[in-house]
Amino acid sequence: MNPDLEHLQPYPFERLRQLLSGVTPKTGKQTINLSVGEPKHTPPGIVTEALITHLHRLANYPLTRGRRELREAIGEWLINRFHLPQASLDPDRHILPVNGTREALFAFAQTVIDRSKAPVAIMPNPFYQIYEGAVLLAGAEPWYLNTTEADGYLPNFSSVPDTVWRRCQLVYVCTPGNPTGAVLPEQALQGLIELADRFDFVIASDECYSEIYPDQAGPPPGLLGAAAAMGRKDFRRCMVFHSLSKRSNLPGMRSGFVAGDAEIMDRFFQYRTYHGCAMPPATQAASTVAWQDESHVVENRRYYTDKFSAVLDVIGNSLAAGQPEGAFYLWPKLRGSDTEFARELYREQNLIVLPGSFLSRDTEAGNPGYGYVRMALVAPLDECVDAAGRIREFSGSFT
Ligand SMILES: Cc1ncc(COP(=O)(O)O)c(C=O)c1O
Repeated sequence: MNPDLEHLQPYPFERLRQLLSGVTPKTGKQTINLSVGEPKHTPPGIVTEALITHLHRLANYPLTRGRRELREAIGEWLINRFHLPQASLDPDRHILPVNGTREALFAFAQTVIDRSKAPVAIMPNPFYQIYEGAVLLAGAEPWYLNTTEADGYLPNFSSVPDTVWRRCQLVYVCTPGNPTGAVLPEQALQGLIELADRFDFVIASDECYSEIYPDQAGPPPGLLGAAAAMGRKDFRRCMVFHSLSKRSNLPGMRSGFVAGDAEIMDRFFQYRTYHGCAMPPATQAASTVAWQDESHVVENRRYYTDKFSAVLDVIGNSLAAGQPEGAFYLWPKLRGSDTEFARELYREQNLIVLPGSFLSRDTEAGNPGYGYVRMALVAPLDECVDAAGRIREFSGSFT
């Protein structure tokens, strides 16, 4: 067996299951589960129709690179969304379709890490658990960069010692962040690109929540836009990861893409050829339609905006929860233990939330997820408002 498998941590939902096992909710109210970040709004009809229409393509092996029309649609979307110079992205060199960002974020570490050089990979803490598993199985040492209230829940790159930067081969960032919802400003991304040049590492920017934001006039910036705004003609050391799962409510379709540095992409392509993870032909056709349509994305954002506003109205000041800059999570700071809060909330209100410490690691400066819970506002509005009422009732009694 691969000995690195021993380093993998139990997944947060397994820890949640253990935390709640043996607890019986006191109330006859229906269970509401806010612990899982699975989009629940209706997928766009044009995409599901395209998927069905193209099922006959099942008779063909798809190419790892995908069809050119899909890569072109993705390229156009990126250029419009992040104000990239026209023709700055070559669909043949800078873009690869992937079966959701999860597998791509994992596969990417296997491609770029050189395990012979005592590598370090930096990631935010708390974080999307795949980063850590990817890094451990690639033979690198994870370095956790705590994202705390003091830093606006953003990674503070200036706190990383040079000794760590010198060994660093890969940095994961997540913007908007899961679970905090914090958005990395363009300047911070540019600062990170400068560090990447200086210390020779690759940036993997997980932007799968980039289309879920409340300020319609101010979409979150992205890494490629930050690079272009610095006047860089290429996207050297920069890779972005995007997904249809959250943008278009299609988590079951498994569709996303990676875009950026052409040289790294070439090696990533080679890796993927052997890995055997080409996107099925019908999924490619449906994804092309999805990336070409913005109206369903605008509508989806409106649902989230309405939901956050209704939920925060009900929660009021019973909990320190605020509107996130992006993504669909509340990340309230509690007065005490997150695991106790989650367990008692389940017992009293039959409401499931995820303890923040299950999403983060202990560090010398403590566990930055301790004393927080993650609540995904993915359920329909009524259910989320019902949950907010329960949280309000519970928080009043929980000290
Ligand atoms: C931060 C983050 N990145 C990536 C993913 C993976 O999404 P997908 O594989 O559906 O694109 C998720 C899913 O919840 C996530 O929260």
